[in-house]
Amino acid sequence: MDRKRKHLLRLGAGVAAGLGAVALTWTGLAANAEEPAAGGDFETKIVGGEPAAEGQYPWLVGLGYAGDGTPFERQRCGGSVLTETVILTAAHCLEIFDSPDEMVVFSGSVDLESDDLVETAVADFHIAHDYNEPVDLANDWGLILLDEPIDAEPIDVGTEPEEFDVLETAGWGNLGDDTYPAVAQRVEVPFVSDDDCEAAYGDAFDAQTMLCAGDLENGGIDACDGDSGGPIMAEEDGELILVGIVSWGDGCGVAGSPGVYAEVADFNSAIDDVLDDWS
Ligand code: ARG
Repeated sequence: MDRKRKHLLRLGAGVAAGLGAVALTWTGLAANAEEPAAGGDFETKIVGGEPAAEGQYPWLVGLGYAGDGTPFERQRCGGSVLTETVILTAAHCLEIFDSPDEMVVFSGSVDLESDDLVETAVADFHIAHDYNEPVDLANDWGLILLDEPIDAEPIDVGTEPEEFDVLETAGWGNLGDDTYPAVAQRVEVPFVSDDDCEAAYGDAFDAQTMLCAGDLENGGIDACDGDSGGPIMAEEDGELILVGIVSWGDGCGVAGSPGVYAEVADFNSAIDDVLDDWS
């Protein structure tokens, strides 16, 4: 994909929803006719998904701006609970904040409008040192240290780079029609091999630090803008484990352009180092 376009996608993630005019210009760009989505039957969920059930992903949290406005209005990215005080998210989600006190984490419900939603302040955050190396959006991970523990179930992080069959991802991102849901959406997406992803994206795809998922042939199912930072998961021995972090894609649910995820197995031990520092 062309570099300028990818940059716009990244910028979009930071400004979506909050700055009406900017977001509109940008989402218009993302949804324009240049790349028609999924051969006409473009579904309007996470892109192609369904609402997540309460408690289905008890490690899924939202990341947003501190301050005025409803949680729904302040929500920007997703994240996964690693411990009662540490959240894993995307580096590109963290770089939009100048300091931890601009940021909050939403937990306790899949519904940003629920009375059960808990808003927690942030004490510190860490952006991967090799973020954007060796290519743009490589090592797209970062960690958030919460001000106080939250009552959420952690997810185990995959340790081996693997081939998968089907993966699932969830978040509060763009439904594919430039609207955003209050209830997190989920979708199952076929794993896409490194070779196929490289064929789709060329050098923009770094097989070492990224993995891909989507319906290459038909499109229609994908993460989208605003889902960044959230989990993509595989079932192993009857449990879901975290295999990736929503990172980027050319459009959303476009045939031939799968979703790209940061491959957590590649930086599992670097995550542990930060966890050690913070404990
Ligand atoms: N960069 C987007 C975000 O910040 C995520 C894009 C994911 N796109 C995709 N087609 N899977 O929310």
